[in-house]
Amino acid sequence: MVSIYGLKPNARVLDIGCGKGHLVYDLKQLLPEAEVRGFDVSRHGIGDAPAAIRENLFRYRAQDAYPWGDGYFDLVISLGCLHNLRIFELKTALSEIERVGKLKYVMLESYRNEQELFNLQCWALTAESFFDTAEWIWLYNHFGYTGDYEFIYFE
Ligand SMILES: C[S@@+](CC[C@H](N)C(=O)[O-])C[C@H]1O[C@@H](n2cnc3c(N)ncnc32)[C@H](O)[C@@H]1O
Repeated sequence: MVSIYGLKPNARVLDIGCGKGHLVYDLKQLLPEAEVRGFDVSRHGIGDAPAAIRENLFRYRAQDAYPWGDGYFDLVISLGCLHNLRIFELKTALSEIERVGKLKYVMLESYRNEQELFNLQCWALTAESFFDTAEWIWLYNHFGYTGDYEFIYFE
C-alpha cells in the first residue's frame, strides 16, 4: 500500500472501520512520521487496539460528515466496513471519502451468484447492503466515488 500509493514519510492516511487498528499499527511501523488515523463505530474494537496506536483511533460512524477539510488525507482506506451501511448512508460515506481523500481505496464483500449471496448472508450478520459487483460499481459511479475498489467473495 505504501509503495502502490507512493506514500511519503509525512503522509496523512485514514482507515475507516479500522476495527482493532491493525492496519493503522502496520502503517505507523512503516511510516513512523506519518499522520495515520483510524475510526470505528465499535468502542470494543478500539479498546482492544495496541496501546502504541490507541491515540490515533477514535469512535465515529462512517455515515456521518467527516471532521476534516477537502483533500486532507493523502489516502483514505476502508476494508470490509461499508456494507454495514444502508444505501442512503453509503451516499454520505462515499461522498465524504471522496471529499477528504486525495487517493482512496475501498474493499467490500460482494457476490457473483446465488451461492455467494447465501454465503455472504451467513457471514455478514451486521450487513445492510447486499449488492452484486455490477450494483456496487453502479453505486460508486452514481455517488461520485472515483477511488480504487476491490471485492471479496465467499465461494
Ligand atoms: C469486517 S470488520 C473489518 C475491520 C478492519 N477494517 C479489518 O480489515 O480488519 C468491519 C468493521 O467495520 C466496523 N463498522 C461497522 N459499521 C460501522 C460504521 N457505521 N461506521 C464505522 N465503522 C463501522 C465494525 O465495527 C468493524 O470493526
